Amino acid sequence: MLSTQGPFFPMAHFILFVFTASTIFHLQQRLKIHPMTVLQQLEPEVTRPDTTSNHLPRSMWTINAIGRLGNQMGQYATLYALAKMNGRPAFIPAEMHRTLAPIFRITLPVLQGPMNSRIPWRNYNLNDWMEERYRHIPGEYVRLTGYPCSWTFYHHLRAEILREFTLHDHVRAEAQHFLRGLQVNGSQPGTFVGVHVRRGDYVHVMPNVWKGVVAHRGYLEQALDWFRARYSSPIFVVTSNGMAWCRQNINDSRGDVVFAGDGVEGSPAKDFALLTQCNHTVMTIGTFGIWASYLAGGETIYLANYTLPDSPFLKIFKPEAAFLPEWIGIAADLSPLLKH
Ligand SMILES: *[C@@H]1O[C@H](CO)[C@@H](O)[C@H](O)[C@H]1NC(C)=O
Ligand SMILES: *[C@@H]1O[C@H](CO)[C@@H](O)[C@H](O)[C@H]1NC(C)=O
Ligand SMILES: *[C@@H]1O[C@H](CO)[C@@H](O)[C@H](O)[C@H]1NC(C)=O
Ligand SMILES: *[C@@H]1O[C@H](CO)[C@@H](O)[C@H](O)[C@H]1NC(C)=O
Repeated sequence: MLSTQGPFFPMAHFILFVFTASTIFHLQQRLKIHPMTVLQQLEPEVTRPDTTSNHLPRSMWTINAIGRLGNQMGQYATLYALAKMNGRPAFIPAEMHRTLAPIFRITLPVLQGPMNSRIPWRNYNLNDWMEERYRHIPGEYVRLTGYPCSWTFYHHLRAEILREFTLHDHVRAEAQHFLRGLQVNGSQPGTFVGVHVRRGDYVHVMPNVWKGVVAHRGYLEQALDWFRARYSSPIFVVTSNGMAWCRQNINDSRGDVVFAGDGVEGSPAKDFALLTQCNHTVMTIGTFGIWASYLAGGETIYLANYTLPDSPFLKIFKPEAAFLPEWIGIAADLSPLLKH
């Protein structure tokens, strides 16, 4: 952590940049700057104090950190892309750093509480899809808000986004160690397919709030069969926050299904790493699965049309902005919604 204190560094009261060792490494490697550059830029003000200035940096953009891992990854990537598009420096909230930095080698600098509260932020709410007007967002101190998680913001920067979300070595190594130990009928699997089954709160939220469903048993059967038909000896690595349901509803009698991960929502690193280290993905719903698919980068099967056509969900969620065009949708079974 870099922090500078004392009466001759008034700027520093506002700024505490927190970097992990790997972040510093990546800044040096990729942005070709040293973290000290930021402090050096501040020196003129330190040596020639300007009493009329409120000592704020000329411009800073940030974004809200709300939701869990998948949501915050979406917010991070959206801030990264929109700040770059608008030529502004991006800073992430400390909370986002706490969520993402233990897993990924993210490089955006961190905004700390004391500074955050002095900045005259102007909130700018985003939809969950890119719009032309986001290329010209006015303001020096913009706090983007919302739950953006759409490739339409950042897919043109895919290589950079993948670098930002590179796993730390120890996180990756643990996942690789697990995958290396798996066998299908006594031999190494030919292909690893990550399966993410989102349950938990969604089991109630989808029908009760959004006129929708979560993935049903038939969807998973179809999705796994799709890979069984195309790849020789695939193994399905199932992660879920509802593993008991998975054990009851995913047929593992062929010996090609492993119920993996720990499903602990508060510490998602292990499950997430397993999914990204697989070659392909079967996702159900939710941003966790979307990000695992995006990072795994192989073929992706997703649950499509999982709400009724008049669902309020469709006002805030555009399927075509959430799922890459090359991903393959399998329609949900909406019949449980029609029964009452
Ligand atoms: C599970 O799969 C096996 C092998 O394909 C099949 O014989 C069996 O009927 C399936 N079980 C269920 C409960 O669907
Ligand atoms: C594993 O072997 C059993 C018995 O030979 C066979 O029925 C099954 O299809 C095999 N499973 C896979 C995934 O190849
Ligand atoms: C599939 O994933 C495994 C485990 O991460 C990896 O070792 C292998 O190289 C991948 N295969 C391909 C074709 O990418
Ligand atoms: C989902 O619904 C849309 C609109 O009715 C349709 O065009 C699309 O084919 C459906 N997707 C799947 C995977 O069934």
